[in-house]
Amino acid sequence: MNKGAIGVFDSGYGGLTILNGIRRLMPQYDYVYFGDNARAPYGTRSFDVVYQYTLEAVQHLFDKGCPLVILGCNTASAKALRTIQQVYLPRYAPDNRVLGVIRPTAEVVGTITHNGHIGVLATEGTIKSESYNMEILKLFPDCKVTGLACPMWVPLVENGEYDKPSADYFVQERIDTLLQTDPLIDTIILGCTHYPLLMKKIRKFCPSGIEILTQGQYIAESLQTYLQRHPEMETRLTKGGSCQYFTSESPERFSGNASLFLNEQIKVMRL
Ligand code: DGL
Repeated sequence: MNKGAIGVFDSGYGGLTILNGIRRLMPQYDYVYFGDNARAPYGTRSFDVVYQYTLEAVQHLFDKGCPLVILGCNTASAKALRTIQQVYLPRYAPDNRVLGVIRPTAEVVGTITHNGHIGVLATEGTIKSESYNMEILKLFPDCKVTGLACPMWVPLVENGEYDKPSADYFVQERIDTLLQTDPLIDTIILGCTHYPLLMKKIRKFCPSGIEILTQGQYIAESLQTYLQRHPEMETRLTKGGSCQYFTSESPERFSGNASLFLNEQIKVMRL
């Protein structure tokens, strides 16, 4: 069986927040990141389209030799993961694995909330899929989950407006709407990989007692546990500490914008 790097996929740059968390905890492995920037955003696309694009991305990462791929994108995890795991993998790549970000986040949030009132901020696609509600309630049936789409937040990040005063209105309006819907919310999941960049503003407009959950660290811890439980996969991962970056758009543009998410200069290739 082939050995290779851990693949991390996102529709664009957001998955870099997941990659950062994973590399911080497990720097020893090799990684391949693919951002489908040419076709982002995924958040407003249909199930069929997100599935098709995500499947193509997974196939690209398998072709690069990755035996394990993390969908570091909530929208792809919500709309494509289950079909890839249940239909595609058994038929075409039975020895490879694809994991998402929603289940590990759901596992953690029920242990963090004190009163069971949870808010989820995410893309329209993730909210409409109801994936967070289903996963959280499966594990913690007494919780109350309120989801709200934030369609303006990804464009704010992608266009470099996330720390400008112009972003205030869009952040405050969504936080207020969420908390008006359920004033008892004590924990908010940022269920989109772009949103951690808006953290400063989210904190500014959120009452201080509310816990705001970003995913990077939890996805990393969940992956570490997965690898401990699956030595047959762990031994297939190469350990050179490298990271390669691929984009479906312009590599120059990607490396420029990626600096918002990473503290290093990176070399990017076109896929
Ligand atoms: N990265 C995606 C997510 O986590 C959002 C960006 C998009 O809409 O493509 O849901």
